[in-house]
Amino acid sequence: MKKITRKLVALAAVAFPLLAANQEPSLRHEANRLGLLVGAAVEPAHFSEPEYASTLGREFNMIEPENAMKWTATEPARGRFDFAPGDKVVEFAEAHRMKVRGHNLLWGSYNPAWLSSRLTSSALREIMHQHIARVAAHYAGRVFAWDVVNETFDAQARLRHSLWYDQPGIGLAGQGTAYIEQAFRWAREADRKALLFYNDYDAEGLGPKSDAIYAMVKDFKRRGVPIDGVGLQMHVLKGAPPDPTSVDANITRLARLGVEVHITEMDVALPTGAGGRVLDPAALGRQAEIYRNIAGVCARNPGCTAFQTWGFTDKYSWIPYFTHFKMGGGLLFDADYRPKPSYDGVLKAFETVKQPPARQSR
Ligand code: XIL
Repeated sequence: MKKITRKLVALAAVAFPLLAANQEPSLRHEANRLGLLVGAAVEPAHFSEPEYASTLGREFNMIEPENAMKWTATEPARGRFDFAPGDKVVEFAEAHRMKVRGHNLLWGSYNPAWLSSRLTSSALREIMHQHIARVAAHYAGRVFAWDVVNETFDAQARLRHSLWYDQPGIGLAGQGTAYIEQAFRWAREADRKALLFYNDYDAEGLGPKSDAIYAMVKDFKRRGVPIDGVGLQMHVLKGAPPDPTSVDANITRLARLGVEVHITEMDVALPTGAGGRVLDPAALGRQAEIYRNIAGVCARNPGCTAFQTWGFTDKYSWIPYFTHFKMGGGLLFDADYRPKPSYDGVLKAFETVKQPPARQSR
């Protein structure tokens, strides 16, 4: 499609959001057929860009705020809550009949400066409780699933040192996953219905880190701690991509514990040069293969109920910033919103599954 035609189509889609939702072929159309959620992380500041909005509405049936529901956005000063950016995400989703995944209620990183280790454990406990209670209650009924706790295990499967755990922590330092459990209990109190997820990276396939997460979920389930899902981030940044068979086995063992699995933050970073251009065009084909494999595993495995990418257009992606502009081009659409081979890979993976599995989504 010519650029000008794409712009006109985009404007029409903004005026009539629900027309775009049934367009085929699209990821959304295929995901609906498969009983699967297909999502992207979004920034509400871009909703006013017609092609950003129309691509989202056409291709996805779920969105997640990339930053708008994190602590910095929602509680910029102690006890001062700001839901305006997160509300924009919810409003966009409602206008386009999409679900909203909330991200996240508790994380050791990217917190506002006022949250510091100078606070006492009892103050931190109260702050954590209030934050989870207020944010989850505000979005109850509108956010269907929350990443309650993000990234607490390190590569050696030990609990990371963090403000919430032991620096100084909420009074449960040295007690393993007790502070994580506390976060889940408070989240359930604030929202009885939302699905509660633990979310992490480099724990997609079988290995020490995913073993630790599996053990935690097993323990939580056994003792009635409210947990409903595990998020596998799937940032493919360096090294070998996760082995699809191993990811499949990990999803299957988690599902046996009675939790669902979401692929939450997939991107596949490629080396880039000046202007963010992908250096080796052949890499786009290898990237497409990686996407196709993972999307295929998720589409076929009844334990996988959502497949999501971290952004959707290479115009806006965290990878260049995170890699000091050495990598980029990691998503499904190029910077002009044209579908890439990676997009075709995901679509093919979905289309190939003729008999959708009976998913266990609640
Ligand atoms: C990243 C965002 O993409 C950036 O815009 C922000 O500056 C930092 O956080 N794992 C997560 C996400 O769970 O919240 C992170 O998002 C990427 C890694």
